[in-house]
Amino acid sequence: MSFDSQAWLAEARALIGEAHVLSADCGDDLSAYTRDWRNKFEGPALAVLRPADTGEVQAIVRLAARTDVALVPQGGNTGMCGASVPTAGGRQAVLQLGRLNRILELDPENNTATVEAGCILQTLQEQAAAAGRLFPLSLGAEGSCQIGGNIATNAGGVQVLRYGNMRDLVLGLEVVLPDGERLDLLRGLRKDNTGYDLKQLFIGAEGTLGIITAATVKLFPAPGAEAVAFAGVSSIAQAVQLLGAMRGRLGERITAFEVISGAAVDLVRHYFPDTPPLLEGACPWYVLMEASDGGSDEALHEAMQTALMACLEDGCLQDVVLAGNLAQGQALWMLRENITHAQQMDGGNIKHDISLPISRIPAFVEQMLPRLQQAFPGVRPIVYGHLGDGNLHFNVSAPRGVAPAAWQRETDAVNTLLHDVVVAMRGSISAEHGIGQLKRHELALYKTPAELDVMRRIKQALDPQGVMNPGKVL
Ligand code: FAD
Ligand code: MLT
Ligand code: ZN
Repeated sequence: MSFDSQAWLAEARALIGEAHVLSADCGDDLSAYTRDWRNKFEGPALAVLRPADTGEVQAIVRLAARTDVALVPQGGNTGMCGASVPTAGGRQAVLQLGRLNRILELDPENNTATVEAGCILQTLQEQAAAAGRLFPLSLGAEGSCQIGGNIATNAGGVQVLRYGNMRDLVLGLEVVLPDGERLDLLRGLRKDNTGYDLKQLFIGAEGTLGIITAATVKLFPAPGAEAVAFAGVSSIAQAVQLLGAMRGRLGERITAFEVISGAAVDLVRHYFPDTPPLLEGACPWYVLMEASDGGSDEALHEAMQTALMACLEDGCLQDVVLAGNLAQGQALWMLRENITHAQQMDGGNIKHDISLPISRIPAFVEQMLPRLQQAFPGVRPIVYGHLGDGNLHFNVSAPRGVAPAAWQRETDAVNTLLHDVVVAMRGSISAEHGIGQLKRHELALYKTPAELDVMRRIKQALDPQGVMNPGKVL
């Protein structure tokens, strides 16, 4: 039967309102929804649909299922692997969750917040802070990414060391299934052993099993004191040594432990020349660390300083600066967050998001840097990431003089060189960004047949028609 797109659009408009169905046919510019943040993936959309509540999401999902239109759930469209935009194949519509943006309940006694999926991460952080609580998920895109996207990607960020990733922060979910049924798992319980924990299926599923419409997440007491330090180290092995030493001295108070290569700092300085000077001399690697607790700033600074001085004496670091105030701490974090933007401006970046047991990271880095140079002379590794979680963005920039497009053609060769070793060392090829379109073919290479079989059976059981985000993950 032929498909009448105008009739379909009219039906969608009747369900969620004229103004909330965008389409190229009507002259709307859809590129902000059909192209991903990295400008790597773009696909055509029959429409961009912006429902206002769970009921409207259900109505749209039922329409899509009945008419064989696939839906691409989309939050802030800040994902790194092309999961939030349509692929080239078949009829697909973007389901934009941004209008479901209310905080439904903030319960300081239960230390929970219940929010709609389209709530911006930063909004939740701010509302929690106003109630004297902390919502700890923190990442460079927090001003535009949405809680639903954070859950669907099981986002990580810079506080995982202390608080865990998004999966650890979710207590309950509301999901619209691919047939339009509403699955109410919206409970704020820390203990609940009543059979299969169904919410886990949707966390990290990248929108392939259902639409997350709301969530209940954990909050924590807001820390009274914070301290930020920036240390230079001679090697990645010394950075790992420093991690152990600082955790030994400050324990759970260490909330973030980020490693940054000298080349990454140089790149940020090149594109952001206002970056303030940090340490007196240059080091091959740096560590940005943060501690927090419920005491006073003075006491925490003193504890951090004592620990850092002991590490200096023990040979766990070369040089260090402790931020004296909030502004200095923020400037250090700005340097870290600008790496992503500097790489985007530089172009020609093959991005990686690997994890390994922390103990194996020095051996991995020390063997891969020379192997990359040997295979691709002049290549510029820009390595940084969440060392405290064993997660590195082992990114590889084009050799000087090689055009970005030519370098992108080496992606498979570069990935194979790195990922074969990662998997041999029992690591992961995607620690926090997910699979999306970018690593779909690699998932098939590196997962065992049994894992892939179980994943396919789950997909088939929940979404036999393939309504949800086709061409992603599997
Ligand atoms: P989108 O990009 O819109 O979507 C991502 C995936 O989730 C897609 O598969 C989409 O279909 C699905 N999805 C979105 N909403 C829903 C929903 N309601 N129901 C079902 N599926 C849905 N990530 C990290 O983990 N750690 C970092 O430190 C980090 N830093 C970043 C820094 C920058 C500057 C940028 C641009 C990105 C960074 N990211 C990071 C990646 C990205 O921000 C995260 O993956 C984020 O969680 C995506 O949220 P989003 O709302 O933008 O989702
Ligand atoms: C980060 O750690 O900065 C993010 O995951 C984004 C990136 O990889 O650039
Ligand atoms: Zn990251």
